[in-house]
Amino acid sequence: MKLKIKELYKYLINYTSIKFSDSLKNYNVILDIGCGEGEFISRLAYQYPKKKFIGIEIKYGRILKCLKKARALNLSNLEFVISDATIFIDKALPDKSINKIFINNPDPWPKDKHHKNRLLNSDFIQLLHRKLKRKGNVYIKTDDINYFKYIKVNVNNSNFIKDDTKSYIDSFLPSTKFQEFYKKNNKPIYSMKLLKK
Ligand SMILES: C[S@@+](CC[C@H](N)C(=O)[O-])C[C@H]1O[C@@H](n2cnc3c(N)ncnc32)[C@H](O)[C@@H]1O
Repeated sequence: MKLKIKELYKYLINYTSIKFSDSLKNYNVILDIGCGEGEFISRLAYQYPKKKFIGIEIKYGRILKCLKKARALNLSNLEFVISDATIFIDKALPDKSINKIFINNPDPWPKDKHHKNRLLNSDFIQLLHRKLKRKGNVYIKTDDINYFKYIKVNVNNSNFIKDDTKSYIDSFLPSTKFQEFYKKNNKPIYSMKLLKK
């Protein structure tokens, strides 16, 4: 497995390098948190070649699929990181460095005893606020109504404002593997857009 990732190294971020945070300067930077197999962010990176896209995923098998997509498209504006999103965002990203953040179908952890594992807790939402530039947005989608309500409470306690305006990018958003699955099963999708004032 390690050898496979070596061949695709070019698309994997070395965020321990000092040059990494410098490389974000002067770019419109977009994150996909929990990017799965990378279909959503790959399509966006292809559509917007002047913007810089970073996919964050914790699972090795999925990141491997992301890297293969990046190689197939041969894009210079798309990179991935294999990491826990909280650690990477907190430790590696400078404050006020990110323009947009997508979180599509985060794991809902529906059982009460597992709620502590939910990514979109209050601290994480404040962390995203700190890393965004002014006027930056977070786009969240989930099929789980209870998780959606939980996120809403945390957003209401944060410095974000909910934004109802539609931007140009909204109408061009690609679908994701999980969204396709939910659509096929006629499951509703709940979405939220946040704005840093
Ligand atoms: C339900 S899947 C959704 C994948 C993709 N966004 C989509 O919509 O098709 C959730 C993804 O988040 C990843 N994930 C969960 N916790 C994470 C964390 N703490 N840091 C980074 N990725 C995480 C999982 O490995 C999984 O690929």
